[in-house]
Amino acid sequence: MASLLESLDQLGQAALTEISAAGSSKQVEDLRVSFLGKKGKLSEVLRGLKDVSPSDRPQVGAKANVWKDQIESALKSRKSDLENRELTTSIARDVIDTTLPARKSNLGTLHPVTQAIREIVRTLGRLGFDVTTGPEIETEFLCFDAINIPADHPARDMQDTFFVGPGTVLRTHTSPVQMRKMLSQEWPVRVICPGTVYRCDNDATHSPMFHQIEALWVDKNVKMSDLRGVLDFFAKDIFGPKTKIRLRPSYFPFVEPGAEVDVSCFKCAANDPHCSICKGSGWLEILGAGMVHPHLFKVAGYDPEQVSGFAFGLGIERIAMLLFQIPDMRLLFQNDVRFLRQFV
Ligand code: PHE
Repeated sequence: MASLLESLDQLGQAALTEISAAGSSKQVEDLRVSFLGKKGKLSEVLRGLKDVSPSDRPQVGAKANVWKDQIESALKSRKSDLENRELTTSIARDVIDTTLPARKSNLGTLHPVTQAIREIVRTLGRLGFDVTTGPEIETEFLCFDAINIPADHPARDMQDTFFVGPGTVLRTHTSPVQMRKMLSQEWPVRVICPGTVYRCDNDATHSPMFHQIEALWVDKNVKMSDLRGVLDFFAKDIFGPKTKIRLRPSYFPFVEPGAEVDVSCFKCAANDPHCSICKGSGWLEILGAGMVHPHLFKVAGYDPEQVSGFAFGLGIERIAMLLFQIPDMRLLFQNDVRFLRQFV
């Protein structure tokens, strides 16, 4: 037993010496493992306890505990001394240079479609049009029947329309929003409805999801010449003050008469037979328009004898593609920031 007590003392002394000589908190931790750890030196000595006679064991055990406590407190105080010293050195060393310029934050840019929407809303806002919106999932009734597109009309064919459920579609145009507006209030009405629309179509100039703006002006005595005046103002504001417009007769079920509207080419003004924008024709087709069909007024509960109105609708991507000279509509939705950053 004497030898065991002796080796405990030797071990304890050695531990204290090594702890006071440790140069870093990491070394202190290593020493803790090597003396007090499961496979540490103290545990190893205590393993010899089984060979000690039972009557001597309490004495040996007590000594071992005393050393264990001493080693633990020596480890603790050395560790905190060293940590304090390490902290002081690192504070002195890691000086923060507050004069360095800040890192530049990455600013996003408005999507060209958003820019075009804002531009058009701003222009028509100057003529007193308010913005109104409606749901993208629309009833077949408001998307078609209410605006004079009967059940056998080709626009309702599965080819163009995404059906969501019985009687429910992804709206194929923003025209149902005019109907919603008229159903919700009495005339006069002067609104624009920007929004997302969906058609089963996908190529360089068509996307299954795109955006339209529809304008509607209903009041007493609204005439075709008012439509022409608004479109002329709109075209000059968006495409430049020299822009001319022309109306070609066309058919849309919700207007009578209806027209397709062209603007003079803002790039070549009909002077370049090889113009990349108008292909030499001098004209760009930009929207559909016309005088509101009496059927819509009847559905809305307005008296077609008392009121008249005009509507026009345009595809925003087409305008953005013309203005920014973007060759393929799909580029607008691939969200490649290298492409999008060009339109600031
Ligand atoms: N809703 C039509 C379309 O999607 C556009 C339009 C609106 C035409 C209003 C005439 C009047 O093609």
